[in-house]
Amino acid sequence: MRIFTNPAKLQNYIKNIKLKDKTVGFVPTMGALHQGHISLIRRARKENDIVAVSIFVNPSQFGPNEDLKKYPRPFEKDVKSCKSEGADVIFAPPPKDMYPENYLTYITVEKLSALMCGKFRHGHFRGVATIVAKLFNIVQPDRAYFGLKDFQQSVIIKKMVTDLNFPVKIIVCPLVREKDGLALSSRNVYLSCEERKRALSLSRSLQNAKNLIEYKNVKSAKKIISEMKKMILPNTDKIDYIEIRDAETLEEIKYIKKKVVIAVAVFVGKTRLIDNIVV
Ligand code: PAF
Repeated sequence: MRIFTNPAKLQNYIKNIKLKDKTVGFVPTMGALHQGHISLIRRARKENDIVAVSIFVNPSQFGPNEDLKKYPRPFEKDVKSCKSEGADVIFAPPPKDMYPENYLTYITVEKLSALMCGKFRHGHFRGVATIVAKLFNIVQPDRAYFGLKDFQQSVIIKKMVTDLNFPVKIIVCPLVREKDGLALSSRNVYLSCEERKRALSLSRSLQNAKNLIEYKNVKSAKKIISEMKKMILPNTDKIDYIEIRDAETLEEIKYIKKKVVIAVAVFVGKTRLIDNIVV
């Protein structure tokens, strides 16, 4: 396994790999790898000749009062995980190589970036779209793997790839949960024992919503959201949103007739958690 820190060197290395007609699978991450990331690396390993993983805590997707500084960076541990999962390449650039002085170019996927998390994390998806576009240009992957946990992110990336004609197939993989239902997230390490227990109200409320729709034939989004609120409110410190949207277009839904995503974003203590379920 090779570790690259310089964008041009990796670009050159991949160019040579492509000359040999090899396929490249890419897993973009911010490190602090958990089983969700590992599932993406495993899938990429199965489907490609070369697997590249990026580890880069992207400053442009964090707001001024967010956790950029304290975001976990267990680099050595991440390197070990990538190695044992058979990754061929790690790309871990320093921020100054991705955003040199006088950096001016950003990508905004209009509308989709302003909804849901975008309402509360201004500029977040602009940062995500920009870094993913830059990484795609450096890694030149045939396939790129994202987790369904960041549902809105995956919709935005797919749209960007279509709109900007990136020659890459986006593969969205299932959300991975702990046995008790907590969605895996690098930010779960911030939770105290007591907060972690309260955080379970997210996955429980989503499962309950799914049951209401599938077994009790409840179709009103308002009714489902109000049931979810009853479960979440006593366990959280702030609800950013609980929303039901069309799973393809992210349009808001009043009555459930086709595939929807039920998505929540809340604070438990100081930690912002997101979770979702597709029904
Ligand atoms: O999902 C993430 O970890 C990040 O948003 C991504 C896609 C690696 C971009 O920094």
